[in-house]
Amino acid sequence: MKKSYEADDRAQAHVQTLQAYVPGEQPQGEGWTKLNTNENPFPPSPSVAIAIAAEAAKLQFYPEPSSQALRAAIGEAADLSAENVIIGNGSDNILDLITRCFAKAPGVGHTVPSYSLYPVVAGMSGQALMEVPFDRSMRLDEAAIASLQAQVFFLTNPNAPTGVAFPVKQIESLLQLIDGLLVVDEAYVDFGGESALPLLKDYENLIVVRTFSKSYSLAGMRVGYALAAPKIIGILDRVRDAYNLDRIAQAAALAAFADREYFDARRAAIITTRESIRTALDAYGWFTYPSAANFLFTEPKNASGESGPEIAAALFKYLKEQQVLVRYFPKHPLTCAFIRISIGTEAEMQVFLTAINSWLKHA
Ligand SMILES: Cc1ncc(COP(=O)(O)O)c(C=O)c1O
Repeated sequence: MKKSYEADDRAQAHVQTLQAYVPGEQPQGEGWTKLNTNENPFPPSPSVAIAIAAEAAKLQFYPEPSSQALRAAIGEAADLSAENVIIGNGSDNILDLITRCFAKAPGVGHTVPSYSLYPVVAGMSGQALMEVPFDRSMRLDEAAIASLQAQVFFLTNPNAPTGVAFPVKQIESLLQLIDGLLVVDEAYVDFGGESALPLLKDYENLIVVRTFSKSYSLAGMRVGYALAAPKIIGILDRVRDAYNLDRIAQAAALAAFADREYFDARRAAIITTRESIRTALDAYGWFTYPSAANFLFTEPKNASGESGPEIAAALFKYLKEQQVLVRYFPKHPLTCAFIRISIGTEAEMQVFLTAINSWLKHA
């Protein structure tokens, strides 16, 4: 006998209405200049491949369950201890752990625009999503955030998709104003932002989230982490998958973290390239937010000096036809006239500028 099961009706009520996260496009095939998902254009430190090869010979054994060596290294570098650190399968995993543990009524807050995974993790926890809108100035409104009384508030610093960084003094005044948890997502902080890490000593309502995906060139490995008070880390550890990081990921992240020279050189190269591209965009007369990240958010103008959603959409389409992939966010009034460009190598950015010049001749 066959049996049917109406999954759409039987799923938990909040899952029935949940919209899945839509990751940036990962084009297959050759020839793309990929500037759409803020990956690092450089491969990881050569020591990563060596560490992975050594670990591959031990894959018959389970990994160390809590990534202890990595916790210790990260804790020490932050002048804290391993008890202040939890490692995740990407920082997305950490964001999910936080809402699973701490999301409660009246809900989970975030600024808009910011990282589009926050609504998804809030939705998975079954809690309401509370929004603090930016205006075009992209200034942080601490009073508006505090008035929400969110149990968990996500703040991306530097922000995405704009690249705008908020001073640590402002984060501190926000921590004083709020009663819930402030999660400062520092995915891009290594490219020029001011870290909230020093505030951890005084504020137990702070969680700093970071990733190996961007500045350590390990997006494909999926390693992120959080630093917070030991009692917060202890709660997060209760719901973490027992073996959330495999052996290869732990070894790769440790090796990348240890190679400071490689890290500093690639980071500096990306910042230099970002500033030279910014100068080029300024020369076109385009408005671009000041960026402390590895991307630029710019409002393109066509050859007649017009900007707006149609112009940004047309440029995005033209670039894609040239196999230059950037990111376009059409759904929000503050983003729909802009494109976001991840910073690639000098050579990749030359391909980008050549495509822009040819668009300006046609547009
Ligand atoms: C603000 C922000 N936080 C977190 C992440 C996710 O990082 P991970 O690769 O560590 O999951 C991203 C990825 O683009 C991001 O933009």
